Amino acid sequence: MIEKIEMIDIVKQFPLVRAVDHVSFSAYSGEIHSLLGENGAGKTCLMKILYGMMKPDEGQILVNGQPVSFHSPRDSIALGIGMVHQHFMLSPVMTVTENIIAGVEPRKNHIFIDMDKAVKDVQALIDRYHFSIDAKAFVQDLSVGEQQRVEILKALYRGARLLILDEPTAVLTPQEVDALFDIMRNLKASGTGIIIITHKLKETLAIADKISVLRQGKLITHRQDLGESTMDDLAEMMVGRDVELNVSSEGPVEGEVYFEVEHCSLTRNGLPVLKDVSFNIRKGEVLGIAGVEGNGQSELAEVLTGNIKADQLVMKKDGVEISGDSHSLMGQGIGHIPEDRLAMGLIVEKSISENLILGYHGRKRFCSHGVLDRKNINSFADSTIKKYGIKTPDGNQKAASLSGGNQQKIVVARVIEEEPDVLVVCQPTRGVDVGAMEFIHHQILGLRKAGKAVLLISADLDEVMNLSDRIAVMYEGKIVKTFDADKVSARELGLWMTGEGNES
Ligand SMILES: Nc1ncnc2c1ncn2[C@@H]1O[C@H](COP(=O)(O)OP(=O)(O)OP(=O)(O)O)[C@@H](O)[C@H]1O
Ligand SMILES: [Mg+2]
Repeated sequence: MIEKIEMIDIVKQFPLVRAVDHVSFSAYSGEIHSLLGENGAGKTCLMKILYGMMKPDEGQILVNGQPVSFHSPRDSIALGIGMVHQHFMLSPVMTVTENIIAGVEPRKNHIFIDMDKAVKDVQALIDRYHFSIDAKAFVQDLSVGEQQRVEILKALYRGARLLILDEPTAVLTPQEVDALFDIMRNLKASGTGIIIITHKLKETLAIADKISVLRQGKLITHRQDLGESTMDDLAEMMVGRDVELNVSSEGPVEGEVYFEVEHCSLTRNGLPVLKDVSFNIRKGEVLGIAGVEGNGQSELAEVLTGNIKADQLVMKKDGVEISGDSHSLMGQGIGHIPEDRLAMGLIVEKSISENLILGYHGRKRFCSHGVLDRKNINSFADSTIKKYGIKTPDGNQKAASLSGGNQQKIVVARVIEEEPDVLVVCQPTRGVDVGAMEFIHHQILGLRKAGKAVLLISADLDEVMNLSDRIAVMYEGKIVKTFDADKVSARELGLWMTGEGNES
């Protein structure tokens, strides 16, 4: 059983980047250790080394004081280490149990898979830590939060006593985060050690016993006790400067109505998803959408940007009706930062420069007479990489070589730099560090100041409240209420988001 894990003087060198630079790090059973650091600081690499997925160039790992060497995750799993990656690796068409036992199936007479035993064991594990999911459910029918729990169960089923969670909360709703934290507390009480990577400092303060902070591959701080620490302290440790954690919009909106959406309806699989949604956004205004995930917000963004065809929709920009597929709407000044950036926004095997102009390569500044203007593209890429703090040696590197947060920044940068007339932005700061969050918030407000219309969809209520001028609450596919952002509290929004608001 794992009591203590030590990583000593670990180095990981890529041809042009030293991802981990002489780091020593330890984790103990029954403790929650938060690993912090900017995008590209080396958190994921360090943890992949501990999990046997990446080979260090130097250094040693000790389990309970004994040196070990991991050739693959098979070796680390055998010793009780489990890791849940930021991108799920589940098969949607299989059940919870089938996913969990894959590769380690219990057998009858060493031949047939003993499914009854598997379901029973998995259900027992689910009940023991209050995971509240059904062992026989199909993964495709589960919410994101539930799928995450399946990933954790998968590690526990293999006997994990030290669990590494790489940004487990990035895609969760606030309610799902609470449920995950309850599970983490149960695991901790049963002696499991947990290492959690997160960019949400509030979460670190809520759940962690200890913290370690990486910066540019080096361990720069370790705290055993978070007693008096504040979010500002943590932000400063990570970034090495003061960070403005709450960037907010200022000044009234005086522009005329610019973007109008009328009677937007959508049915999917026979069910109404959007029900007669109408709203408008003025020039220089940010309209935020607040809602519990699954109430139509994602579909609204998809419909307005031409990625899904609505049953009914009238859209006007500056009084003129606009319509078309995603490419045509992009040409008509509708910018879209999609929620699922890795699936919809990036081609990871292409270079960073190519990704930075993806979809915009036909623009005059990138292309003349049908020929790509390499010089302009490269200078645009260089300046954007610098401006957005994308950590890479240069724009010719493949997007696949970037850290998770830096991949996210590419899609955000590409769309914002185009300065669309109307920006539809979903979860703009998911996966990025606090410094980048501050920067992206300033960019969105920059578009507002330039007189553009912004539709902001985010699961982060603080983000919605800080950046928006008005907030529309979506519930069951409808806009149930619209508020002036400075006249509403998080509590009141919460009531409307759960269908409990009333006009009194
Ligand atoms: N396969 C690779 N090839 C080249 N460089 C890599 C590779 N994987 C990671 N890197 C580089 O190593 C550094 C550390 O990356 P890592 O993924 O550990 O960052 P991180 O701290 O997890 O960041 P984030 O918060 O954005 O997820 C980055 O500069 C990254 O570009
Ligand atoms: Mg990472």
